[in-house]
Amino acid sequence: MNRHILLLLFLFVALDNCVKFPIKQRCQCSEYDTLFCPGPPFCSINGSNCEEFQCKYTNELYCTPFDTLNRCKWNQSTNSCENYTYQCTELTTYQSCLGQFIGVYQEIECMWQDNQCKPQDCTQINNCDSLSCSMSTQGCGKKIENLDCSSYTPETCYITDGYGNSCHIDKDLKCKKYSALPICSELEEQMPDKQSAISFCNGFCYYDINSQQCIPKECSQITQESECTNYIYDIPNELFIPCIWSNSKCNEVSEKDFETFDLHKCFQFGMTHYTWQPSTSKCKQCSLVDRFKQNPSENPNSDSKDQNNGISILQWALMWIATQI
Ligand SMILES: *[C@@H]1O[C@H](CO)[C@@H](O)[C@H](O)[C@H]1NC(C)=O
Ligand SMILES: *[C@@H]1O[C@H](CO)[C@@H](O)[C@H](O)[C@H]1NC(C)=O
Ligand SMILES: *[C@@H]1O[C@H](CO)[C@@H](O)[C@H](O)[C@H]1NC(C)=O
Repeated sequence: MNRHILLLLFLFVALDNCVKFPIKQRCQCSEYDTLFCPGPPFCSINGSNCEEFQCKYTNELYCTPFDTLNRCKWNQSTNSCENYTYQCTELTTYQSCLGQFIGVYQEIECMWQDNQCKPQDCTQINNCDSLSCSMSTQGCGKKIENLDCSSYTPETCYITDGYGNSCHIDKDLKCKKYSALPICSELEEQMPDKQSAISFCNGFCYYDINSQQCIPKECSQITQESECTNYIYDIPNELFIPCIWSNSKCNEVSEKDFETFDLHKCFQFGMTHYTWQPSTSKCKQCSLVDRFKQNPSENPNSDSKDQNNGISILQWALMWIATQI
């Protein structure tokens, strides 16, 4: 690597040593002591070590479509949890039907309609899922590649492409493209009046009264100790940021802080990015892997898929995090 870039990188790291965790990543399973191994759907204990998830190490209770991200099924005759490829019609709950959209483990896409999980068919449904079909004033349709909003008139400017992108009329009455993940500076213009713009902004970002701008969340924006708890989500940047109250302020947790944390704080603030090492009694930063991808080399097209599923991955990540903490 070019020395200049290297130097810049170091500078950057040195200046910005507060800790921000990419939501889409997590500790590699081998980083966990078996005592703290998170279990399905990400990790398994192979008898002695915490390893990346495998059906065969999963007991009957967790060998469900939901707990294994639709990868495994319990075999009554062998009394074991086996690799399995589900058909949409075999998935009986909304969550596991929706789980198909994660896409990295399954090639098929399903939709939930009339309380049933069915193979995706964008031509047949009116109330289609905006993450699997396109939607426009004319109803549902196939996904649209490279959505170009400028080619639509204000009258036809209500379209989603099935990848999470959509077209809306902006303040200047032009048809404009908005991506799946919100962008703070664009949130305001999507609302008709100031009051709703501010609350829309505050849903994902932070509305700064002084500058009158919608900006990404930071710990320092929290002024009450009781609200400075554990972490904040910076959804537009797909990060969670651990926050800690000290010196009468809400601060971002630094790498130095982590070095001093005990087991409890290590999990409280380290979430799925730091883990406790009983052998050294230290809170250790992990090597990370993509949260939903076991082996990226198995899936050459995963980049585009990953993008397509940005929002659903986020939903799952948030849901999963909620169940872990
Ligand atoms: C479990 O995984 C570890 C590390 O990969 C390996 O050394 C060990 O042999 C495995 N044990 C079993 C029972 O598969
Ligand atoms: C269960 O295992 C048996 C024996 O290996 C196999 O023949 C059968 O197809 C399996 N059942 C299912 C539902 O996969
Ligand atoms: C089950 O799937 C895992 C992960 O893809 C793979 O490593 C393993 O070899 C498979 N096992 C069988 C018995 O096919």
